Amino acid sequence: TLPIILDCDPGHDDAIAMVLALASPELDVKAITSSAGNQTPDKTLRNVLRMLTLLKRTDIPVAGGAIKPLMRELIIADNVHGESGLDGPALPEPGVAAQSCTAVELMAKVLRESPTPVTIVSTGPQTNVALLLNTHPELHRNIARIVMMGGAMALGNWTPAAEFNIFVDPEAAEIVFQSGIPVVMAGLDVTHKAQIRRDDIERFRAIGGEVANVVAELLDFFMEYHKQEKWGFTGAPLHDPCTIAWLLKPEMFTTVDRWVGVETQGKYTQGMTVVDYFFLTNNTPNATVMVDIDRQAFVDLLADRLAFYR
Ligand code: BDR
Ligand code: CA
Repeated sequence: TLPIILDCDPGHDDAIAMVLALASPELDVKAITSSAGNQTPDKTLRNVLRMLTLLKRTDIPVAGGAIKPLMRELIIADNVHGESGLDGPALPEPGVAAQSCTAVELMAKVLRESPTPVTIVSTGPQTNVALLLNTHPELHRNIARIVMMGGAMALGNWTPAAEFNIFVDPEAAEIVFQSGIPVVMAGLDVTHKAQIRRDDIERFRAIGGEVANVVAELLDFFMEYHKQEKWGFTGAPLHDPCTIAWLLKPEMFTTVDRWVGVETQGKYTQGMTVVDYFFLTNNTPNATVMVDIDRQAFVDLLADRLAFYR
C-alpha cells in the first residue's frame, strides 16, 4: 500500500477526496492536515474531524495548519462551499480532537517514521506543504511526490488567470513547484472534465448507506454554484478527488511533463500557473500535468468505492 498524507481544506470536493482515499485499500492514509482556504482554518479543521467521524476513521491523526497564507491575507470560498465549508448534509459533531501539534509537525513526524517515501496529496492552498519544505529540508528525500489540485494551463476559476488554491497562496505554490520534488498537478484542465452530472449523483445516492447519502447531498449543494450559466457546465467539476483517482488509476488520465512556475506579481495574473507547454525555456520539467480524464471511468471508480461504506 502507498503511504499518503492528505493536506486539505474541506470543502465539498476535499471531503469527497477523503471518502475516496479512505475507501481504497491501495492507500494508507497516515495523517490528514487542514489548510485555510475554502473556509477559515478553524472550520476546515472541524470539517476534517466531522468527516472522519462520519467515516468511522477517527484513528487517523489530524492536525490543523497555518491560519493564513505565507504573505497574504486569507481569502475564503464561502460562495462555493457555504458558511460551514461543507454546507448541505447533516454531519456528525467531531468525535475526536486534533493533535496538539501543528500540521507541519505532524507531517514531519509521519515522514520521519515512514520506512518508505510518502506521497503528499494537497487539495487546498499549498501553505502547509511549503512550510514543511522550508522547515525540514532533511525530509525532502522522504517525500515520494506531491500530488496537488491547483492551477491550470490556460484559464482561471477565481480570476481570469488563476485557480482558487494557487490564487490564495501563490508564494507557497511557487515554493512547492520549484522544490525539486516531483509534482503532479491536477489543474482545471482536467478537473473541469471531471464533471459529475445529475444522473451520477442519483447513482451515488442509490448505492445506499450514510456515506453515499452524504456524498450525494454534498454534490447536490456543490452543483448549485456550478449551475450558473457562465460556466457552461453540464455538472459540477469534482476537482480534488482527481488527485486520489490519479494515485489509484493513473491510466485514467492523460498527462504531460512540463515546467510550471507561479506568477506572484502580475497585474492581472497573480496566482496563475505558467506552464511551458511548448518547451520555450530551458527549464527542466518539474511537474506532471494532467490534461485529460476518462470521465466515465472516474464516475465508475467513485461509485465502486462508495459501495465500500454500505
Ligand atoms: C479548488 O478550490 C476549492 O474551492 C476546491 O476545494 C478545489 O480544491 C478548485 O479551484
Ligand atoms: Ca480544496
